[in-house]
Amino acid sequence: MLERKFKFDNTTKIGNIIYVDTTQVNVEIRNENIIPEIVVGHMVSIDTSKKHIKIIGLIEKVIRKHNEESEDDFECISKDMIKINLIGTFKSTYKSQRNIFKRGIENFPQIESFCHIVNRENLEFFMNILSENKKDSLHIGTYSIDKTGKAMLDGDKFFQRHAAILGSTGSGKSWCVAKILEKVSQLKYPNIIILDIHGEYKSLCKNPDAIGKYYKIAGPGDIDEKNEETLFLPYWLLNKEEILAMCLDTTDQHAINQSARFIHHTKELKKEKLETEKKEEILKSFTVDSPIPFDFNKLIEALKEDNERKGAGKNGNPIKGEFEDKLTRFIFRLETKYNDKRYGFMFQSPEECQNYDWFHKLIYKLIGSTKKGEGIKIIDFSEVPSDILPIITGIIARILFDIQIWMKDEDRTPFTLVCDEAHLYLPKKDSANAIEKKSLYNFERIAKEGRKYGISIVVVSQRPSEVSSTILSQCSNFIVLRLTNDMDKNTIKQLLPDSLKIILEQLSLLEIGEAIVVGDSILLPSRICLEEPRKKPNSDTKKFWKEWNEKESSEEKLKKAVEYLRGQNKNN
Ligand SMILES: Nc1ncnc2c1ncn2[C@@H]1O[C@H](COP(=O)(O)OP(=O)(O)O)[C@@H](O)[C@H]1O
Ligand SMILES: [Mg+2]
Repeated sequence: MLERKFKFDNTTKIGNIIYVDTTQVNVEIRNENIIPEIVVGHMVSIDTSKKHIKIIGLIEKVIRKHNEESEDDFECISKDMIKINLIGTFKSTYKSQRNIFKRGIENFPQIESFCHIVNRENLEFFMNILSENKKDSLHIGTYSIDKTGKAMLDGDKFFQRHAAILGSTGSGKSWCVAKILEKVSQLKYPNIIILDIHGEYKSLCKNPDAIGKYYKIAGPGDIDEKNEETLFLPYWLLNKEEILAMCLDTTDQHAINQSARFIHHTKELKKEKLETEKKEEILKSFTVDSPIPFDFNKLIEALKEDNERKGAGKNGNPIKGEFEDKLTRFIFRLETKYNDKRYGFMFQSPEECQNYDWFHKLIYKLIGSTKKGEGIKIIDFSEVPSDILPIITGIIARILFDIQIWMKDEDRTPFTLVCDEAHLYLPKKDSANAIEKKSLYNFERIAKEGRKYGISIVVVSQRPSEVSSTILSQCSNFIVLRLTNDMDKNTIKQLLPDSLKIILEQLSLLEIGEAIVVGDSILLPSRICLEEPRKKPNSDTKKFWKEWNEKESSEEKLKKAVEYLRGQNKNN
């Protein structure tokens, strides 16, 4: 049994403080024997004027100084120094509690205070304190410097204010997501949606012990064979800006007329639907953007009528109509989208999607949570073409945020959107096209205002330098796995306070499945070995050498792939 306190003596002593500022101190090494133990990244404890309070820091630099200019032979010895980043305060007693660690420094160390290395039993003791402080929380692995210490994140803080899981491809991001989901699934009513771009997480929904529900955005092959798992997002869910970003050519000289007529007819058709449904109350206040089903064919017909209608001259003689021939290109663009099978999830949805009550059932599918094993939803985007990806992710983000805003305070439960491969649909603004900008706007709004309404984002990406900086800069927690690209490393460095930057120097040295975790959900910024998830995502790194020796690439298999490509469907 470990003794429940720090034990420092002459063998752990490093030396004395010779310089103090608000985030750093320098220590002169006065114990030659300790030099082999002094390694960058190791933890130290610094005495304060109060015996029960110690300041905890991490070694940032080790310097051996030579005072060669000195004339005095005895002064010509080396003066070794270490630079320490101050991290937090440890109190062996605090009010009625014992052994408490807090971020931040209340009592600054004084010149000549003692500094000790925290190693062996002391390290184990300290790491256990960190774990115990957060008993019921999100356990994701063990501390790299002391494998007995369970690394715990504060689950509330991790999800509250957006998080990012970043690292090069194959570094272990998807496994990390799976581990977090596994922990979340143990709660009674978790509520998480995973935007699964490569279809990696389907395996998590397999019985026995499925930890979530699987849905798939309807691909061209799913339109005729509908099943429970297939998700449709009919056109009437889009607001006017989204549909116009998709179908209107803003450089067309008649673009203003086109959008005006579109808005006019859409509103009329929605009104018609409300009248048939006898929704008197809603009729009083609905807008063109309200998600109300309407018949797309009728919209096209009405636009065609505008486009062909002649005007009446003075004597009743037909003259050129107000909109005559001005809508031709717009109608063509709408029809092209309508007939494009890739947009089937939007325009070829089953009849029931036109029902007034269908919408709340969709919302319940996405953010309902009433049964164990059903609160985590995986949405598979693997068959969605990349140019459409931002549209769909953007619609999902917006309708969910809208619902959350309109939910009564007392009814609202929080939920999180996990955005895997975020660089593909949450790009930096300068490189985004009109459609991507719309999608980005919806996510950025969540990043900026979501906290108030209990909706957060977890960004997962291998290219942080290509992800929207508005979104990344709103993240309060970072799990950073192995990362080698300098641009990506710099992006992360810019997001963190100076005192934490040093810990990121280790990013290219991390093992697969090892991460640096910083943020308000963890007491001490730490290097953590992530635990393997029980159910693994289907993301195995291919073994080239082995497979080239074992598995042929036959004509049969390739023919199948060609047919799948042609039919945009892997199931036939
Ligand atoms: N925590 C871990 N422990 C052990 N191996 C891991 C761990 N995380 C990932 N791996 C290995 O790395 C491979 C790639 O991981 P993955 O999560 O798919 O990477 P990424 O999503 O970052 O591209 C996995 O198939 C697995 O073999
Ligand atoms: Mg991955």
